[in-house]
Amino acid sequence: MDIARTPSNPDGNPEMADAAVDPKNLPEIRREDYRPFPWIVSETRLDFDLGIDCTRVRSTLTIARNAKADRSSTIRLNGDGIEATSVTVDGEPTQSWVMDGDDLVLTLPGDAHEIGIETEIDPSANSQLMGLYASSGMLCTQCEAEGFRRITFFPDRPDVLSTYSVRMSGSKDRFPVLLCNGNRVATGEEGDTHWAEWHDPWPKPSYLFALVAGDLVARSASFTTMGGREVELNVWVREGDLDRTEHAMESLKRSMKWDEEVFGREYDLDLFNIVAVSDFNMGAMENKGLNIFNTKYVLADPETATDGDYDGVEGVIGHEYFHNWSGNRITCRDWFQLSLKEGFTVLRDQLFSADMGSEPVKRIEDVRILRGVQFPEDSGPLAHPIRPDSYREISNFYTATVYNKGAEVIRMMRTMAGEERFRKGTDLYFDRHDGEAATCEDFVKSIEDGAALDLTRFRRWYSQAGTPRVGVTLEHEGETARLTLTQTVPATPGQSEKQPMPIPLKLALFDRASGTHRGEELVILNEDRAEVTFDGFTEKPILSINRTFSAPVTIERDVSREELVFLAEKDDDPFARYEAMQELMTGHLVADVTDDLDDDEREAAREDIARAMRSVLEDDQLDDLMRGELLMMPGATYVAEQMLVADPGRIHARREALKTALGTRLAGSLQEVYARTENMPFSLDAGAKGARKVKTLALAYIAASDPAKAVELAARQYDRADNMTDRQGALMVLAGLDSAERTGKLLDFYNRYQNNALVIDKWFAIQAGSLHPRAIEHVKALRDHPDFTLKNPNRVRSLYMAFAANPAAFHAEDGEGYAIIADLILELDPINAQTTARFVPPLGRWRRIEEKRAKLMREALERIAAAPKLSRDTFEQVARSLG
Ligand code: ARG
Ligand code: ZN
Repeated sequence: MDIARTPSNPDGNPEMADAAVDPKNLPEIRREDYRPFPWIVSETRLDFDLGIDCTRVRSTLTIARNAKADRSSTIRLNGDGIEATSVTVDGEPTQSWVMDGDDLVLTLPGDAHEIGIETEIDPSANSQLMGLYASSGMLCTQCEAEGFRRITFFPDRPDVLSTYSVRMSGSKDRFPVLLCNGNRVATGEEGDTHWAEWHDPWPKPSYLFALVAGDLVARSASFTTMGGREVELNVWVREGDLDRTEHAMESLKRSMKWDEEVFGREYDLDLFNIVAVSDFNMGAMENKGLNIFNTKYVLADPETATDGDYDGVEGVIGHEYFHNWSGNRITCRDWFQLSLKEGFTVLRDQLFSADMGSEPVKRIEDVRILRGVQFPEDSGPLAHPIRPDSYREISNFYTATVYNKGAEVIRMMRTMAGEERFRKGTDLYFDRHDGEAATCEDFVKSIEDGAALDLTRFRRWYSQAGTPRVGVTLEHEGETARLTLTQTVPATPGQSEKQPMPIPLKLALFDRASGTHRGEELVILNEDRAEVTFDGFTEKPILSINRTFSAPVTIERDVSREELVFLAEKDDDPFARYEAMQELMTGHLVADVTDDLDDDEREAAREDIARAMRSVLEDDQLDDLMRGELLMMPGATYVAEQMLVADPGRIHARREALKTALGTRLAGSLQEVYARTENMPFSLDAGAKGARKVKTLALAYIAASDPAKAVELAARQYDRADNMTDRQGALMVLAGLDSAERTGKLLDFYNRYQNNALVIDKWFAIQAGSLHPRAIEHVKALRDHPDFTLKNPNRVRSLYMAFAANPAAFHAEDGEGYAIIADLILELDPINAQTTARFVPPLGRWRRIEEKRAKLMREALERIAAAPKLSRDTFEQVARSLG
């Protein structure tokens, strides 16, 4: 049976597919059931007659039997909510087809045929934003993972590669610009309509198909590749947005150059188009030669985008561009292999951003995302290996595990091989599998062969879920330091028994007196347990371990606060220094929440943290970007993650209390830093960015200890700001404090930017994420704001994701936060299932939350589960979360 779709309803009644989802009717698709598709689709011709509410699609497929697959007398063409208005075989109308669920199954007499299919779709009614849809007057597509089947019937699976020729025609007036994959080969016009023909010479799976038609303008440039190919580059946007595209274009050029230099990858078409779309489910999409982006990751200027937004644009432009090799030239055999392209491409974009800016700061940011999002996923009901074994809805597997942990797993191979040998491995991979739909195993084998590494055991990282816990003890006797390492991989849903995995740990032993070490070592923990000894230490050294976060694991060790203060002040690995600061604060917060510390103990801990922070504030060797990282408190989710069962209310309260204590103790140094950075002129260089970062961080500490002073500083910062970073930072602080300035600046911000959707998203997010005690009421009021709409995913996320990530508000004791998210899920699900399903995981954390709240979270999930009708996306996530 095809892996792409097992028949969901054997009686073939298409109405059934829309009916209430019952878990028993939701087929589970399993990795081990993979079979090659019985047919080869050498050519795909598509003819689009474009209209906002009616688009006619004629498709012609040239097919022949696949000698490498089981023989079949039928061909299954996937569909999703579409009907065929005509079906032909070799030019003749045929009746020998049936609908099987949403799929069209056609009986074929011979070994080679030409299939013709016509469908009619209504892009304006497509609120799911999958397939062909309308977004502010233009038409665009999103086909990954299974959107192409909403356009026409097709073997919509990534291992069916075909060469596409596309003709598109539509109103000259409405759609002056007509774009598709590959190269434009002909254009013409007839009366009010015009047309364009596009040909993509590179065979591709249907998920990489894209089309755009609309009234757009481009910033254009050109790039000459290392082989001398001149590539035309365009960034297409709506007219008013053109002056916010410079950073995107520069990021694209830098990406192209970097991929040549670092991975030896050259672009392979004469044209590269990027289109910005305001209604988009995800960040961006790597369609061949025609990347489609969420406007959030294209548009940037200092007035409306923060430094974080600038970094986001550069990173995502890089990511999608790098997919041209890791994703498009080599694609995935099936969706279980998603990490093959996503894990690798995330690693590539991380390395790129590190090279463009500060390597250690980028590393810390990436680890923060991993620990804040992926670790909780890995320890909850939705845990899955980076190469999952089964799914019901593939959209639910575009996760931090597949993406970010996937990148970490490949990064470990790079760490073990070293950069040069790793490059040999990736060269071999690109060479060996160019033009193929490959597997994670193909990748590992290429690295193994090319880099000369034995990855036999390492492959377990692909099949086992859960964050490994590494126990560390260091003993000292005579002149010998003895390091004992142990590992356990926790049980996860469906995986109770785990095998040990190779864990590369970079470490250094510091001499207490001199504050230096003798060199970094790489120790690979291959078994459950290992011992390593180090000689020549007359005194017990201080251990710095998992430097650069060389493995995505949790370190469990007995370390004194004194040693952590030492590392926070002296470690020469910036990541390890950051880690020591985090551990110092996390350790204290966990103790403060669980142990009922007495006042003396609490004071002593706070004093140590303040001492380390003071040295960070005053260390003139540090650049401000790094200083900012060292000043950041661990997030509430991360603290909760350290406990088996957490009380979010208590964590929030203790965390805020620590912030206040630090603000008070460090008042002098914080105000000095603020004064030093306050009037730094705007620029995008690292120094100025760093200054903006520490400025608002200092402000946040001041807000916790001296709110009146903070209101005054923030209001001034807001008024004087000549850039969005400063203005947003000031508004964020004000939004958490009751004052007349709060209302005034929130109103001013809205009025100033009401015509800029991306900035109004920030306005919603700032309020929904604020520390203000009445944030819940604000969210309820914003729900009814005329600018709020459930139709636009960015707007939905700006209000509700910010809210779900606001620990105090979301975890309100009476469960109102949970009810708000449940209500949203029920209301949004029929409109946009993919975006809806992303709101389930915050509720799915209930097993790790104290029992009163856990019960309320469960009730919210049960209320969703009881809905008469749910999308497959949401149903799967709710069912797994209830477990
Ligand atoms: N391949 C895209 C990227 O990561 C993500 C597209 C995911 N789309 C989806 N509907 N799940 O670059
Ligand atoms: Zn990607």
